[in-house]
Amino acid sequence: MPRGLFITLEGLDGSGKTTQIKRLAAWMQKRSLDPVITRQPGGTATGDRIRALLLDSGSTPLASMTEMALMFADRAQAIAEVIEPALAAGRTVLCDRFTDSTEAYQGGGRELGSQRVLDLHRLVCGDLKPDLTLLLLPSLDSSLARARHRNERTVAQTGKDENRFETEQGEFFKRVWEKYKEIATREPNRVVLIEGNLSIDEVHEQIVEAVSERLIATSRIT
Ligand code: TYD
Repeated sequence: MPRGLFITLEGLDGSGKTTQIKRLAAWMQKRSLDPVITRQPGGTATGDRIRALLLDSGSTPLASMTEMALMFADRAQAIAEVIEPALAAGRTVLCDRFTDSTEAYQGGGRELGSQRVLDLHRLVCGDLKPDLTLLLLPSLDSSLARARHRNERTVAQTGKDENRFETEQGEFFKRVWEKYKEIATREPNRVVLIEGNLSIDEVHEQIVEAVSERLIATSRIT
């Protein structure tokens, strides 16, 4: 039984990954490829508890190292419980975020640096690498506009002071965006960069093209 294909989707918050994963899964199902769909953080019972801890960080601030360690704890469980068994059984796995997110958000955004993230990945995840990563990266300007829009909503909902928060968020997302770009430049064979402000259909077309290429190259479709 040939090992399954491991595909990850990456991008900033609000980049449309979730919509694209659903459309890609439907496209694959039509071709009798029944993918396993999962997301990080979350995706296992333990992972959902870790996710709750991470999402609760507004009320209980987490140190950056704690945040990174929790992301990896979640990932180790997902690999053991969901990803490895599926790949071993020959299933394609579609994963919404993986270690590139930790490198971009904790390594870049939180400024912990790439090396620590990559070292931990080797140690905790046995260096499991996706066969293909689809990185959705609209321009920095529109990414920042989305981040600002979200901040305004947060301010409206919580009444928290916007100015400092907004600036920090802008700087944070700029670092995340730049780190994603750096990963794509470093690993052009694995990472397919889908750039610019494209429509949902245009992004889907580019995703299908990249995935078809891998499926044909590995004789999974003709
Ligand atoms: P989620 O609600 O799943 O957002 P999205 O739909 O954009 O994926 O929340 C995941 C958040 O966690 C998102 O802001 C990115 C962040 N994150 C990290 O900071 N590091 C990581 O390793 C992962 C997997 C996610």
